[in-house]
This record gives sequence, C-alpha cells and structure tokens, in this order.
Amino acid sequence: MSTASFDLLPSTNPAADAVRDNILAAPGFGQHFTDHMAHVRWTLDAGWHGHEVRPYGPLTLDPAAAVLHYAQEIFEGIKAYRHADGSVWTFRPEKNAERFRRSARRLALPELSDEDFIGSIKALLAQDHAWVPTPQSAADECSLYLRPFMIASEKFLGVRPAREVDYYVIASPAAAYFKGGIEPVSIWLSQHYKRAAPGGTGFAKCGGNYAASLAAQKEASDNGCGQVAFLDAAENKWIEELGGMNLFFVYKDGRIATPRLTDTILEGVTRDSVLTLAKDEGLTPEERPISIDEWREGAASGEITEIFACGTAAVITPVGELVTEEGPIRLAAKSDNEVAKRLRTKLLDLQYGRSEDKYGWLT
Ligand code: COI
Repeated sequence: MSTASFDLLPSTNPAADAVRDNILAAPGFGQHFTDHMAHVRWTLDAGWHGHEVRPYGPLTLDPAAAVLHYAQEIFEGIKAYRHADGSVWTFRPEKNAERFRRSARRLALPELSDEDFIGSIKALLAQDHAWVPTPQSAADECSLYLRPFMIASEKFLGVRPAREVDYYVIASPAAAYFKGGIEPVSIWLSQHYKRAAPGGTGFAKCGGNYAASLAAQKEASDNGCGQVAFLDAAENKWIEELGGMNLFFVYKDGRIATPRLTDTILEGVTRDSVLTLAKDEGLTPEERPISIDEWREGAASGEITEIFACGTAAVITPVGELVTEEGPIRLAAKSDNEVAKRLRTKLLDLQYGRSEDKYGWLT
C-alpha cells in the first residue's frame, strides 16, 4: 500500500516541551490533545482532496451543517504505542479502516481508502510523535489514542446524504481508561433502554449509538456501576455488548464465549484479537448467542468462572457483578480473573513490542 501524501501546515504555537511532559506524566483519558490534526475534505464533485496536517483547533462549521441536525457522523478509536527502542506502532489499523468503511456505508457517508485512513494516521504521527507517552513499566498502559472521525459538513437542512464531508484525525495521550486499572468493574443491566435494533446502526461506529446509550449509562452510574450491558431489542433476552466494549465469558471447562456478531453488535478489533489469542492459549473460543439466563445460571452454578469486557480504550477489564433491578448477579466463587489477566498481558506485550509480533498485527 502506498501512503497518501499530506501537506503540512505546522502549528505556530505548539505546546512547550515542559508542558507536554507534564501532560504525558498523567494524561488521564480524552482530556488533552496534540499540536496538530489531519484533515481530508470530500465533495460529491471532487471526491477526497486537500489532504493536510494542520494545527489542532476549533472547527468552523456552519450552524446548518447536516451533522449538527441529523447526526451523520462516524468515528474510530485506535492507539499508538511507544516501544522500548523509541519506535511508534499502531495495532491492526487496517481493521479500523475496514470498519470505518462499513460504518460509512451505513451512514451514507463516502468511503475512505486504507491509503487515506492509514496515511492520515501516519502523517499525524510523523508530526506529533513526541506526544506518544513512554511506558514506565509493563503495568503502565499509556498510549496516544487516535480518534479518526467523519462529519457531514454541508450547509443544508434537507434530509439526504450530505454532498460535503470532512474527515479528521485528532490524537490524545491516554492512561488506562478505567481509573481502577484491572479492578473488576460493576455493570448495570439495562432492561428498558436498547442500544440497537435489527436493521439499525448497532454494528456501525457512529456517534448516534453512543448518544443513545447515555441515558442507560446514567442509570448505571445512579446504581453505582461503571458500565451498562444491553440486551437485544427483539426478545430482551440475548446479551449484546456494553455500548463501548464487547463481553467475554470464561467457562470452567476451558471455553471462552462472546456474543456472535449481528447487525446490532460492534465488531471490536480487541474482540477479534482476543479470539485469536485465546485459541493460542489452548482455550476454546465460541461466538454464539448468550442469554441473560445463561449468565445468571452459569454464574450461580460456577460454570462461568470469569467475565471480562474488552475494547481499544479499555483493553481487557474484568467484570465484577452484574447489577439488575432484581438484585446482583455474582460469580459463585470469587474469581482471580486469571484468564482475563493472562490474555491482557499477552495483548499488551504484543502491542508494546515486549513479545514477538507473530500475527503481523503491528504497523
Ligand atoms: C474505543 O474503545 O476506542 C472506543 O471507541 C470506546 C469509547 C468508549 C472510548
């Protein structure tokens, strides 16, 4: 694949080294941004053009821009990791590029090539590589979180696919997504709100899905939980995902199951990687429907020994209890989350270059 060429308009006001170092020492998640952003414009007449890396800053958007009214928007999440030799790597970016095109088709947005998607990330990293934090230990999961996104910027209030679109990549230094690290997170079971319906946009990474999950997320937080689990819209029975993460169930006989992909579940890159790593660890991965009854009964009988959530931002995080209106569902025996921890270490070692990249996942 050749890389698209991006014009550079350098920032005249980049963060001073000391300011940047201060941020990198404790970046949090999603609060600080690098000096530049990548941008490519699309119009119906001219297609993709105007590839540039320019100073990070507010966008000028017409108040009638379609995205502000009809949410014609998609995004991605991908991390850049610094290895011990100082080099900077991304993880399976072609998977994100492919998903971004799937999302674009569903939201009637123009598709972006691998060349432009990966090229935009490379161009931004070439400029802002000093913002990729250096891990201080194997337990330090700091990275530069990249957020590619595409918006319908055409000034038009009619409801139809926009004829003017902008694509950007911004970058944000990040520490662990969950402040508790690998402390198990409590999950609230949403029984009234649904995240996605068959034929809808659940499989696409679009802002609307996340907006629709926020009332349930608030309910979770009001009930002392950090995340929310959604059931299917048709039968209110099948486990789907957490809205920003996929779920895995570990069984005492060595099986490890995750809900099979449907058009209501986002195909996570971490989910896919866990399926491969689990197989290589001698576990038996399964992608199949998993009901809330199976969760309840498997937890009570001890068949299910661990549950974990996974995603780019969250990596692999053990799930403690599932809080429901009828009371909590807890695993029969206290779990040390050995499988989640093992898979997490495998994944992080690969991403940070501490183990051989035998799958060719690093770019
Ligand atoms: C990611 O894991 O990259 C996401 O987009 C999820 C979001 C909750 C940060």
